[in-house]
Amino acid sequence: MEIFTAEYAKQQDEQCSLRHLRDQFVIPTKGDLKRTTLAVKESKLDGDDDLSTYLCGNSLGVQPKLTRKYFEQYLNTWATKGVYGHFTPIEDSNLAQWLNVDEDLIPDMAKVIGAKNSEVAVMQSLTANLHVMMSSFYTPTKDRFKIILESKAFPSDHFAVESQLRLHGQDPVNAMVLIEPPSEDSPYLPIEHILSIIDQHAPETALLLLPGIQFYSGQYFDMKRITAHAHSKGIIVGWDLAHAAGNVPMDLHGWDVDFACWCTYKYLNCGPGSIGGCFVHEKHGQVTEKTGANGEPEFEYRNRLAGWWGSSKDSRFVMNNKFHPMPGALGYQISNTSTADTTAVRASLDVYKQTTMSQLREKSLKLTKYLEDLLDLLAKENNGEFANDFKIITPRNPEERGAQLSVLLSPGLLDSIMHTLEEEGVVLDERKPDVIRVAPAPLYNNHSDVYKFTTVFRQALRTAKTSKGNNGHA
Ligand SMILES: Cc1ncc(COP(=O)(O)O)c(C=O)c1O
Repeated sequence: MEIFTAEYAKQQDEQCSLRHLRDQFVIPTKGDLKRTTLAVKESKLDGDDDLSTYLCGNSLGVQPKLTRKYFEQYLNTWATKGVYGHFTPIEDSNLAQWLNVDEDLIPDMAKVIGAKNSEVAVMQSLTANLHVMMSSFYTPTKDRFKIILESKAFPSDHFAVESQLRLHGQDPVNAMVLIEPPSEDSPYLPIEHILSIIDQHAPETALLLLPGIQFYSGQYFDMKRITAHAHSKGIIVGWDLAHAAGNVPMDLHGWDVDFACWCTYKYLNCGPGSIGGCFVHEKHGQVTEKTGANGEPEFEYRNRLAGWWGSSKDSRFVMNNKFHPMPGALGYQISNTSTADTTAVRASLDVYKQTTMSQLREKSLKLTKYLEDLLDLLAKENNGEFANDFKIITPRNPEERGAQLSVLLSPGLLDSIMHTLEEEGVVLDERKPDVIRVAPAPLYNNHSDVYKFTTVFRQALRTAKTSKGNNGHA
């Protein structure tokens, strides 16, 4: 069957073993997106055939239906138990007592990111966690003081590194090594290039901080090889997994990653600005207890920015000012956990639990390939009507990408294209001046979404080119 048809896409969707998961999400309808009020039709919660084509899970994932149910439980617990909610197990709630909400999430979160339970904490937010991790893992000396990152790092990571360097008395001009793409025409960072920059600066480098998946290009780095290479040169390795968590299977423990941080509002569908996650390899999270000279227990552990929530549960309410870190990543917690946030994470992970990261990856590879194939066909249509109008800048090798394809448009088309997409209920994300990012998330997107996007994109290209021509810019 011809692949650029609605029938083919539908057939693929019917054959998909994960298709039932889509029904567990509230995908905005086109009407919802256009309305400036909340007024949600009840019918929408049970499905609606006028759904938008939502391909923006790399920015903000859609809402699991369980989230609303769990928020009701959270609000009812607060309303009916008050402070007892911290300790009282509630028979008709899926949520843990507030005192345990963070630990309750850990086994399921650990599966999503490929870690041992003791290596995971759900806490704070991404950039804040990067600071917390760097405060512990960036320990510059006279000889080793540099931090290597990529030149096109997400600005928040760039700012975090720059300020950590200053905080440690380093001058970012000398101490911040930026990996530039070798070609000006492409954001692609070949692994050999990354390794060669590491080699060049290795003797003076304390820390390497890279994204698992690059936010702009969608490039998925070989985390295992890069980590091993940097370790062989004595460099600590941290990863920003904003675009990788819940998107691609990882084995952070097995790859010997030192630390990693991620957010939960993208592929993990926990809502805007929701709580972040941290990985600390078990070798860094050990706490040993000794008896001190005065007979009191003393603890040895990696230094960190400490707060009471990182201290053992026994010690938290003793108020004796003795920090007794919990072993593992939990010992890096600072403040008590936002129960509203963990309610959303519980709902998200209860959907993830129904599948595995490898099953999701299998579906994701098919969806992203379908998107790539349709875009390639579109470029060839009508003797190359659109051949010079767009280019995929995400690596063509499926091993080097997750769910996202970034598409570079020829100059001057972006605004008009985004306008048409929005009018037609296709939701995706732009990076000015000329890039759109299309991300079919395998939990809730399907082949029909990809087909729909590509047909609207064709129409959007035509409209944009016509108006560009009319403006005399063609
Ligand atoms: C790669 C990357 N790093 C950092 C951030 C900043 O995240 P936060 O605002 O949760 O700190 C984002 C946000 O989208 C991101 O994509």
